Amino acid sequence: MQVIASAPGKAILFGEHAVIYGKPAIAVAIDKKARVKIRERIDSKTHVEVPGLGISEYLEPENDVIHEKQINKGILDYISKSLKKVNQLSGLKKQNGMDINVDLEIPIGSGLGSSAAVTVATITALSFYNKLEFKKDEIANYAHQVELDVQGAASPIDTTLSTYGGVIYLSRNSEEITHLPLNWNPSLIIGYTDRESNTRELVESVRIKKESYPSVINPIMDSIEQITDNAREAIVCENAEILGELMNINHGLLDALGVNTPELSRMVYIARKAGAIGSKITGAGGGGSIIAYSPNKIDEVLGELQRVENAFIIKLSSLGVQQEVGRTWKRRI
Ligand code: MEV
Repeated sequence: MQVIASAPGKAILFGEHAVIYGKPAIAVAIDKKARVKIRERIDSKTHVEVPGLGISEYLEPENDVIHEKQINKGILDYISKSLKKVNQLSGLKKQNGMDINVDLEIPIGSGLGSSAAVTVATITALSFYNKLEFKKDEIANYAHQVELDVQGAASPIDTTLSTYGGVIYLSRNSEEITHLPLNWNPSLIIGYTDRESNTRELVESVRIKKESYPSVINPIMDSIEQITDNAREAIVCENAEILGELMNINHGLLDALGVNTPELSRMVYIARKAGAIGSKITGAGGGGSIIAYSPNKIDEVLGELQRVENAFIIKLSSLGVQQEVGRTWKRRI
C-alpha cells in the first residue's frame, strides 16, 4: 500500500511575530510544496528519507530525539511528532512498519513554511494510510499542535496556509479564517539567504524583548495589527500603492523587534531600489527570506536580487493539502 499527500509552503505578507500575541496576519500559499509518500514495509521499522537534505534515518517516535540545533535534521522532529500524534489519535499502539519519503521543494529554514508543509502533508498521508479520513480543520489543528510541540511557541498561520491554500487573513486570536480574493495578481518575489532561520530562537528573542520593554514593544505589536487590517482592505480594493507602503512600514517594525539581519536588510533595499513598491522580511527573520511587491518592475527586481542572493517569483497556490495519486516512487535505503 502507498499513499501520497502534498502541501504548499507559505509566505507571510503581514503580521509575523505579532500573530503569536493574538494579532491578525495575512499570508499566501505558494506553488512550492512538500510531498510525503508513505509505503508499507515488511518489517516493523519506520524509515524516513528526505533525499534533498541527505537524510535517511530510522525513527522511533516514542523516543523523541530533538534535533534543535540541526536545521536539516530538525525536519525529522516534525515527522516523528506527527507520527506520535496520529498514533495517539487513532489509538494505535504502534504503526506498522513504513517507509516515508519526503520530496521538499521549499527551501528549508527560509521562512517559507517548510516544516508546516511537511507536518500537514505527513498527517494527511498518515490519515489516508490508516483510513482515518481527517477533515481539513482537524488536519490544520493537529499540525498546529505538532508545531507547538516541536517549537514551544507557534501561531497557526503556517499550518493554516499549508492546509487550505490561497490568500488568508487570520483574525485576532486566530479565531477566524477569511479567504481573500485570488484574482488579484500580486507580482511577488522572494529573496532568500543561505543563512537559515531558526523560528524557535527568533520567537523566543521577541518574547524576551516584549517582556523587557512592554511599554515599547506592545505598541509595536498594536501598530502591526493596524497595518494588517489596513492591508486587508488594500488587497480587497486592489490598492497597490497602499499595500506596498504598508509592507515597508511593517518591515521597519520587524527591524525594531530585532529580527532583521544585514543580508535581509540589503535585499529589502536592493528590491526597493530596483522598483519594488514594497519589501519586507517574511517569516521569522534572522536569516531566511524577504518578500518584494513589484507590480511594474518584477523582472528588474528579480534580476537585482539574484545578483546578490537566491530569488524567485512566487506563484500563488489556491490548493492546500491534497492526496495525490499515480506517482511512482523509487525506494532507496
Ligand atoms: C513564522 O513563519 C511566523 C512567526 O510569526 C512564528 C509563528 O507565527 O508561529 C514568526
